[in-house]
Amino acid sequence: MSKTQTETKHRLLKISILRYNPQDPDSVPHMQTYELEEGDRMTLFIALNDLRDEQDPTLQFDFVCRAGICGSCAMLINGKPGLACRTLTRDLPSEFTLAPLPGFELIGDLSVNTGKWMRNMSERIESWVHTKEIDIDMRKTEVPMDPQLAEDLYNLDHCIECGCCVAACGTFRMRPDFVGAVAINKIARFRLDPRDDRNDADFYEVMGDDSGVFGCMSLLGCDDFCPKQLPLRTQIAFIRRKMAEQGIKNYDKVLPTPKKLIPIKSI
Ligand code: SF4
Ligand code: SF4
Ligand code: FES
Repeated sequence: MSKTQTETKHRLLKISILRYNPQDPDSVPHMQTYELEEGDRMTLFIALNDLRDEQDPTLQFDFVCRAGICGSCAMLINGKPGLACRTLTRDLPSEFTLAPLPGFELIGDLSVNTGKWMRNMSERIESWVHTKEIDIDMRKTEVPMDPQLAEDLYNLDHCIECGCCVAACGTFRMRPDFVGAVAINKIARFRLDPRDDRNDADFYEVMGDDSGVFGCMSLLGCDDFCPKQLPLRTQIAFIRRKMAEQGIKNYDKVLPTPKKLIPIKSI
């Protein structure tokens, strides 16, 4: 292939980025458009680094792994949540917008503090294995796990806490205390884990209200935009059913004992 043919493939990208620095009292949110020549197999991560290296060192965005593993480069790409490091510019039009994920604390430009939100969520739903065993003997051989169960657990453990499901969630935009699909998936994961001694009554305590699974409106934006393709739709439906069953059991417990019916005497 001749050099000219290769060059004609490269488009001139016009990337409009929402710029705002909340730390700077003089900063005003605005769109800033940059022009950049597209490279072969260029990802948004590469494009943003080129912009920062060659045009604007003040541009803020996050990345760590560049491989869809750390979850830190999530942003709104043409209005939809996605990972910058896993998005090829060739899959976008030549003019597109980038904005920070909504709903999280803004650090600056495209950088948001998803870590703080995820930590609060994890503490709230207690997303760790709870065991009644007090003295854990580290020298004891681990109880083997059924391979299929291990596989199922592993599949639910793929979450990279990127925040895309939260940013895509209509309920979260209306109720900031909503735990989101990421939390519901984690509950499904710990519920499946035989090493976790919690039961549905315990999970109901953290999930059984409108800020938990009953707040979900089932519009499935989370399922559409999870970059790890976690089965969020299935897990939300499953946990909702389990929590509804638990809610009925709880309700039965608090109902007063029915009074003895007095027969109506005929006149
Ligand atoms: S299905 Fe539920 S958790 Fe998922 S985006 Fe919709 S409201 Fe949010
Ligand atoms: S469930 Fe998916 S979209 Fe949500 S935080 Fe985890 S990986 Fe990201
Ligand atoms: S940089 Fe780690 S997921 Fe994109």
